[in-house]
Amino acid sequence: MRAYEIIAGSVGLEGLRRCERPDPEARAGQILVRLRAASLNFRDLLMVRGIYSAGGQKQAVVPLSDGAGEVVATGPGVTRFRVGDRVAGTFFRNWIAGPPPQPQIALGASPIDGVLAEYAVFSEHDAVSVPANLSFDAASTLPCAAVTAWHALMVIGNVQPGDTVLLLGTGGVSVFALQFARLAGARVLMTSSSDDKLARARAMGAAATINYRATPEWQQEVLRLTDGRGVDHIVEVGGSGTLGRSIQSIGSCGGIYLIGVLTGVAADANPYALMSKYASIHGVFVGSRIMFEKMNAAISANALEPVIDRVFAFDDAVAAYRHLEHSAHFGKIVIRI
Ligand SMILES: NC(=O)c1ccc[n+]([C@@H]2O[C@H](COP(=O)([O-])OP(=O)(O)OC[C@H]3O[C@@H](n4cnc5c(N)ncnc54)[C@H](OP(=O)(O)O)[C@@H]3O)[C@@H](O)[C@H]2O)c1
Repeated sequence: MRAYEIIAGSVGLEGLRRCERPDPEARAGQILVRLRAASLNFRDLLMVRGIYSAGGQKQAVVPLSDGAGEVVATGPGVTRFRVGDRVAGTFFRNWIAGPPPQPQIALGASPIDGVLAEYAVFSEHDAVSVPANLSFDAASTLPCAAVTAWHALMVIGNVQPGDTVLLLGTGGVSVFALQFARLAGARVLMTSSSDDKLARARAMGAAATINYRATPEWQQEVLRLTDGRGVDHIVEVGGSGTLGRSIQSIGSCGGIYLIGVLTGVAADANPYALMSKYASIHGVFVGSRIMFEKMNAAISANALEPVIDRVFAFDDAVAAYRHLEHSAHFGKIVIRI
């Protein structure tokens, strides 16, 4: 089969190369999936730069966790899927419900090959049916970014109508969070470095927006927009430089969902202000298969369409990574297979 792989010790995009791999086969309990589309996450840049896991990739690996396709063969004993079913793999192996298993093993990180290939094999327990209203391109955006936003806001945050949600930037996780927060009837405040992207966010239902370049102390604007009360939920995808501002922006009994490392992980935030606000910081790492399935039910019931910035051809996968690197996107970047 045609595939891409990240070579061992990769420290940049030159470590991503085309390759031929043997066609995988479905063994007992497994499904063989003909992949039709894959999507990129910020993590995939960290992976190719060799800074996602300690010591980088120890062996060549097919990258990307997020893909969708159709089942073309099932191994003995498979009961959850049939040939022809439209599916996506889950981000983690063997996390079906409840707390995450240890160790947490993710798709597309050495030694587990990912989905930037024509075929992939999954345990039948590590896959979900994708919403019937979605194309393969759209379905490929769900496993990491969408499940993470869903887990943060709908599972941990239990967002209620009328709550105020603050979202940082307009990447994959934040745009899904905008869609889920609006579905729940929340008021959304959103930041971006781009006025054009902020206009798109308002068109999607964001009530108020802040350009974090023009207003570097954006937490003051968040407090102004909430009459000094602060917000109920923050999807914290930044890290250094944003976490401290999020702590200032959170309101009484609010939740900061710690997700991202866009701006690095150097500790520069003092958490003590959380004490008198009875607010919390809650770590989020993607989510379980059950969360994915519940999210898909909500996507189907509401005919929700993931926001795709651009679709690249399989041959142009490196250009897709470069597009992600430039942060010019709004929502998700897809590679059609
Ligand atoms: N813990 C988890 O389970 C989990 C799951 C998924 C992702 N993540 C992490 O979450 C983060 C977001 O992932 P993603 O895939 O959504 O990334 P992405 O699509 O690459 O997001 C890129 C966008 O982030 C925004 N951004 C960059 N610096 C910012 C800052 N200082 N303040 C506010 N926004 C900023 C920019 O938005 P504008 O262009 O609008 O300025 C940029 O376009 C990454 O760090 C990723 O590793 C974690």
